[in-house]
Amino acid sequence: MIILGYESSCDETGVAVVCTEQGLLAHGLHSQIAMHQAYGGVVPELASRDHIRRVLPLTKQVLAEAKLTLANIDAIAYTAGPGLNGALLVGASFACSLAWAQGLPIIPVHHLEGHLLSPLLAEPAPSFPFVALLVSGGHTQIMQVDGVGQYQLLGETLDDAAGEAFDKSAKLLGLSYPGGPALAKLAQQGDSSRIRLPRPMLHSGDFDFSFSGLKTAVLTALRNIEKQQGMATDQDRADLAAATQLAIVDILAIKSLRALKASGSSRLVVAGGVGANRLLRDHLVAETKKMGATVYFPPVDLCTDNGAMIAFAAAMRVKHGIQQPQPAHRFSVQPRWALADVSVASV
Ligand code: KG4
Ligand code: ZN
Repeated sequence: MIILGYESSCDETGVAVVCTEQGLLAHGLHSQIAMHQAYGGVVPELASRDHIRRVLPLTKQVLAEAKLTLANIDAIAYTAGPGLNGALLVGASFACSLAWAQGLPIIPVHHLEGHLLSPLLAEPAPSFPFVALLVSGGHTQIMQVDGVGQYQLLGETLDDAAGEAFDKSAKLLGLSYPGGPALAKLAQQGDSSRIRLPRPMLHSGDFDFSFSGLKTAVLTALRNIEKQQGMATDQDRADLAAATQLAIVDILAIKSLRALKASGSSRLVVAGGVGANRLLRDHLVAETKKMGATVYFPPVDLCTDNGAMIAFAAAMRVKHGIQQPQPAHRFSVQPRWALADVSVASV
């Protein structure tokens, strides 16, 4: 089966073609980062309008790259949630209208399932079961994954997501949106040992996280520097960026490695935008090696939002008999949607 997939839950328009047998055939992405940068964050209405502008040219581009036409497509998948309501509606209504016009069935996909399964698009791909650390701009979760559609939540953030902690701290340091990559870049020039930031909930005895205190700690450290010196230098900001990155990476690594040990699995999978972070990657590679385990990541360009992971998740659900493509005469989106709702088995 050849599936055309759409991602439009936030600030990336993604389109891809995936074959259930051959895997990813082509994908295209338009990032709205430059457009939202002037506002310091995603402006939902602008995001929706830009998805409308990009979705048709991207569809043509991706089909041409895959050397296919709409006549070769067997089903159309789209992100049905979670995400921004208007942005989701653009992708969903476009995908479903196209499906209706072509007489094709549709496959609504949970955005986080897309992230969760995206490491299977890399070589070598992890086999089931594995423990997954899902770290995006809106979510931070540790999941036990026993197969496609078999997800059990082991722990999650009680407040801000790890990506949010990166973004909010970066803003305090005067960096532009999205803060994660900018903060990671600035941290390269910094000394992470100069300022010690707290690691909340490290001894909570569970696999939950709390990141909301981190931005306050960053602000306090910045104010202290300003009080002592009048103003923070570039080196001060780089040191603070390095300390922030290390604190977030430490917390994520410690909790996910503990969950891995508790599960008895030897495979850890990292997915979501923060999975692109170099320090997190290097740290987890070294630490899992010490444990005799292996860590898997999606290809770096498929860590952040993209259409490939959505078309692929749809292909996997169909291939494993978990979801049947459905008629395109009706659709809905779910801006808030728990991953447990698309899990078929309690593990
Ligand atoms: O998964 P994603 O693309 O979108 C959501 O579904 O939220 O994740 C975006 C998040 C943002 O918070 C961004 O700052 C963060 O991922 N991010 C990074 C890096 N690249 C993206 N955080 C740290 N280091 C990076 N290299
Ligand atoms: Zn995402």
